[in-house]
Amino acid sequence: MCGIFGCILREGSVAPQILDGLKRLEYRGYDSIGVATIHSGTLEIRKDKGRIDEVSKALKISEMKGSLGIGHTRWATHGAPHMINAHPHTDSKRNIAVIHNGVIENFMELKQELIDKGHDFISKTDTEVIPHLIEEEIQSKKNLKEATLAALKRLVGSYAIAVISSLEPDTIICARHESPLVLGISENGIYCASDVPAIRPYTNKVIYLRNGELSTLKLGSYEIIRISDGSPVERALEEIKWNIEEAEKQDYDHYMSKEIYEQPISLRNGLRLQEQYVDLITQFLDRGKEVLLLGAGTSNHSCIAGSYIFSKLARLTAFPVISSEFIEVYGSSIGIDSVILAVSQSGETYDTLKAVDHARLRAATVLGLTNTVGSTLTRVSRAYIIQQSGPEIGVAATKTFTSQVIVLTQIALKLAKLRGKLSQDELDDYEKSLQQIPDWVDSVLGSTNKKVKAIAKKYLNTKLFLFLGRGISSSTAMEGRLKLLEITYVPCLAYPAGESKHGPISVVEDKLPCVFLCPRGSTRSEIIGSIMEIKARGALIISICEEGDSEIIQLSDDVIEMPKGIPDLLSPIPYVVPLQLLAYELALLKKLDPDKPRNLAKSVTVP
Ligand code: AGP
Repeated sequence: MCGIFGCILREGSVAPQILDGLKRLEYRGYDSIGVATIHSGTLEIRKDKGRIDEVSKALKISEMKGSLGIGHTRWATHGAPHMINAHPHTDSKRNIAVIHNGVIENFMELKQELIDKGHDFISKTDTEVIPHLIEEEIQSKKNLKEATLAALKRLVGSYAIAVISSLEPDTIICARHESPLVLGISENGIYCASDVPAIRPYTNKVIYLRNGELSTLKLGSYEIIRISDGSPVERALEEIKWNIEEAEKQDYDHYMSKEIYEQPISLRNGLRLQEQYVDLITQFLDRGKEVLLLGAGTSNHSCIAGSYIFSKLARLTAFPVISSEFIEVYGSSIGIDSVILAVSQSGETYDTLKAVDHARLRAATVLGLTNTVGSTLTRVSRAYIIQQSGPEIGVAATKTFTSQVIVLTQIALKLAKLRGKLSQDELDDYEKSLQQIPDWVDSVLGSTNKKVKAIAKKYLNTKLFLFLGRGISSSTAMEGRLKLLEITYVPCLAYPAGESKHGPISVVEDKLPCVFLCPRGSTRSEIIGSIMEIKARGALIISICEEGDSEIIQLSDDVIEMPKGIPDLLSPIPYVVPLQLLAYELALLKKLDPDKPRNLAKSVTVP
């Protein structure tokens, strides 16, 4: 899951814009970067292992000449982070440069075939076969587009690529199969990139390339064709509604802190959904013989919270399923009566899309909940809802989790109404609480940060954390655990507290910090029992509970008090916020970059 960027400018050099574009794509992968430009008919490449700032400074990339070029920021899949494996990769004569996001599954056999034809390879990557395949096709008198088209037909796997050549110095060829790619059109230039934030500073006029499409970009023109048969494709420009400031850090040190503090706004936007789509999704769910909630990582945690909410409000059994396990666990049993609600903020997660493809092949109804307009999930869903969180750049999902849960709750309330499962008073109470959520989150952000900083300091050298909750709070515990684990690298366990005595309690020892989610609700006596159980073995109890909840406070070593009156079923939204802050503060104290945790990337577009 790398980031690719290409552009042709009417005026000026492209290198600074390519670097800026890669900077905005850095959340997709950041272990090495490279840029290629064409100037006076010569192809120049500068690339190395490392972050954009350090490599571009060391190699003076911004000084590269040329008004046409491409750039790549990498997340290694084949070949360790090293200059040799950094993109762009070239052909034997260094006329052709290719950047790629995805995985070529049949690269070994293609490589052997090309080696037998006398090609030399210098990297360990799968990508390097592409420029050599194109070179082969160009030798049989094809132009760059035709040669790339022929080469692509030999590939098995996923790709978004951009190709330039000193033989055709005014052209960029780009194409996609599974990995995302968007074009941008402006007065001064034409762009292609893995994601909109990279081209948004230059234009709000975009075209989302679809699977199996190839585009030929020249200054002032673009042509799109289908890779399968070369047939032309007409596609209208789409306008991006959000502005670049929304995708910038503004006065925050990190995207993660900005996105945590944006939650009152993103939640209010999440309460202003387009009714007709919520109604449509509700009707499909109501008709389903079985309902499955599909997601990966944080989106899976939203699905777990959703399963409690659908059951309690609408009496609908909805099974949360981890995307990468979907085909194995339900692939053989789902069918025409199954409804799959796929949840993915990026709308491009490989595991989720693969599961969706399988479900569609078995005639199941696929619905989507995503944050990304124009994403692949929106195109493969019978109906979808955009959760309206605004762009999320920090690798650790924060505002998109709370938005997903507030959207799922609204769908469940609609379903409860449609099915007559709640009285009007109950519906009104939940609706009233739902509208209060953004304010509760606002007050939590204002009142808990100081306490969270103190707790982060106290547990700075902790080697293990436990996160426990009962009922719907087990989803909050899992999300809190994921945030801390993914940006501080401290091992963490999270599970429904009732499971402790069936094994996990064996890791509890003196001074082990255990975070307990304790909203007032139907599991109160059980959660108090769990706290006592764990405390009796010397653990330190960190409780997140309602303000003035003396019973819980007395049992705890550290307490984060939450506003009164938050219904248990809505608690994952406000109660996860102090856990997002705890992860952020601990990462800062450990001098780690919360926005770019090691080995991770924002959207996982490869198997
Ligand atoms: C969460 O902080 C991670 N970035 C990751 O687990 C993420 O939630 C997962 O990859 C799913 O992404 P999606 O919502 O874009 O599909």
